[in-house]
Order: sequence, then C-alpha cells, then structure tokens
Amino acid sequence: MAEEMGDEGVKSVSEGRDVHFPVMTGEVMEALNVQPGHWYVDATLGQGGHSRAILEAGGSVVAIDRDPKAIEKAREDLLPLYGERLRLVCMNHADMGEFLSRAGLVVSGVVLDSGWSMPQASEDGAGLSFDGEGILDMRMDPHLRTTALDILENRSAEEMAAIFSNFGDEPLAMVIARALVQSRSRGRLPRTPKELAAFVSGVYYRRGYRRSRRHPATRVFMALRIVVNGEIDSLVRGVSGVRPILVSGGRLAVLTFHSREDREIKHLFRSWVREGWGRLLQSKPVLPGKAEIQKNPRSRSAKLRVYIAT
Ligand SMILES: C[S@@+](CC[C@H](N)C(=O)[O-])C[C@H]1O[C@@H](n2cnc3c(N)ncnc32)[C@H](O)[C@@H]1O
Repeated sequence: MAEEMGDEGVKSVSEGRDVHFPVMTGEVMEALNVQPGHWYVDATLGQGGHSRAILEAGGSVVAIDRDPKAIEKAREDLLPLYGERLRLVCMNHADMGEFLSRAGLVVSGVVLDSGWSMPQASEDGAGLSFDGEGILDMRMDPHLRTTALDILENRSAEEMAAIFSNFGDEPLAMVIARALVQSRSRGRLPRTPKELAAFVSGVYYRRGYRRSRRHPATRVFMALRIVVNGEIDSLVRGVSGVRPILVSGGRLAVLTFHSREDREIKHLFRSWVREGWGRLLQSKPVLPGKAEIQKNPRSRSAKLRVYIAT
C-alpha cells in the first residue's frame, strides 16, 4: 500500500476527536507581524486559535466562519475576554472582500487556515468520520444543497473519478468510481461514512493492498468534502477579494493542506507579484517543524504562503 495516502480532513479524526490545535501559530504570527491597535481578519475562525493569538498580541480581529457553531463558541469564549476588539461574522469568506470594504475597515493582515476543525470533523452529522453511521452529508454550511451522498447517487463514473482524482489525488479514482456505479445499479450504494470507508477499503484490498499508515478512504473523503463545500472556489474568491483592501505592508497568510489548494494560492500570489501589487515573504512555502508534526499530526501536510502588499 502506498505510504502517503492523502491527508487532512478525515485522517485527522482518528488523531484526537474534538481536540483542535491551531496549525503553525508561531509562523502565522511571525508572518502577520501584528501591530497593536491594527485590524486583522481571521477568515477561518474555527476554534479561535489564530484569532486568540492575534488578540493576545494586541491586534483587533474580524473573525469569520461559515459554521454558526464556531461563531457561537467564540461569542461565549472570546467575546467576554476581548470585547470591542473582536467582531464575529458568520459568512462564507468567499464574500469577505466585499463585506470588509463595505464596512470601511482598514486591514493590516489576513489569515486563512483552510479546511475543517476537529470538532466539526467528529460531529455525528458531518459525515467525515470513518466510523460515522449517519447519512453521508459533509456539508459545512447547513444551507448548502448538495451532500456527498447526492454525488454518489447522481454522478457518472467519469464525474466521480474526476472528483476523486482532482480533489483527492486518489490513485484508484476510476476503479473506485466504477465500483460505486456498479454497486449503485444493484441498489447497494454505500450511504453512510462507515459504509463508504469500508467500500473503499474493499476496493484497495481486492487490488492487493494490505497495509497503510492512513485509512485507504482518506483521499476519497477529502475530495468529496472539498467538492460538497466548494472549498477551492471559496478559497480563491476569498483570497482574491481581500487583496485590494490590504494596507500597504499588509500581509496575507494562507495555510493549505492539499496540493490543489496550494497550487491555486501559489499561482494567485505569483500573478499579483507580476502585476506589481506586492511581494512574497518567501518564494517557497513555510512548512511545520518536526515538533509540531509530532504533537499535531494534522499539521504535517500544511503549507503556509505569505503575500505582502506594497
Ligand atoms: C481548520 S479550521 C480553522 C481553525 C482555526 N484557525 C483555529 O485556530 O481554531 C477551518 C474553519 O474554517 C471554516 N471555514 C471553512 N471554509 C470556510 C468558508 N468558505 N468560509 C468561512 N469559513 C470557512 C470552517 O467552518 C472551520 O471552522
């Protein structure tokens, strides 16, 4: 079995349910170079790790999350501590540029830490845990229409293979997609995370794969999650939207966990540099150190890219 079976998302569920360690906080803080009294945007509030670090350094934060539960938690935990210096906004960060410019806020830095937080991934209804027995949902925002099960029920083998390959780097994308379509025609489509995880494991097992450091279904789960939530589109729209509202010297720090996301950010940042709008803090992405990976295995696939507006 391939040693590297994909990353983030589901994999991390088995590595400590409900515990979310903010990733590369030291590196993010260094990148943002927080100035007391200035405003920063945390485009992915989650459990509030990065927001809290900025607030502790004296910055003020507009914290955004599309998950109402993340906002509610911060309302209870962080708002009483930081008051006026923290503003909470429940929205898709895809639209944050427009929202922030309408609010007339001068922004000195933005951090975006893509993906899911640990408590979201282990929620019963989320459909991300390999042993979940609810319906395969995977929607981060309850208003989204398409669930992961909808994809399995309605897409052709070619469409599913493209999803698994493009958004999960799944090497057996076509084999798995064809097997799913075959099962569907017999009325035996996997309908829960547990069934899908077992199904993908079965495909790998039949191809002679026996052992893996990671669950064989990791890549398929990640691909479905990214597509269900339109994650790449939101990332690109969100990051593109905040560039024009950064002050001169303002910093944009983006953490990604998947090659496709990192590629998008790399190309975006490079195109801005070519246009003469800013520069990169470093040409290569910053990676987590060994100690962090040991403490928080979810961080191992993280890549941090930082753009500085001129
Ligand atoms: C990896 S967690 C962030 C963890 C956070 N940095 C911390 O320190 O706890 C990602 C968070 O971003 C949110 N999120 C993901 N995509 C989003 C989007 N398009 N718009 C707004 N929030 C989003 C998720 O709901 C989740 O809470």
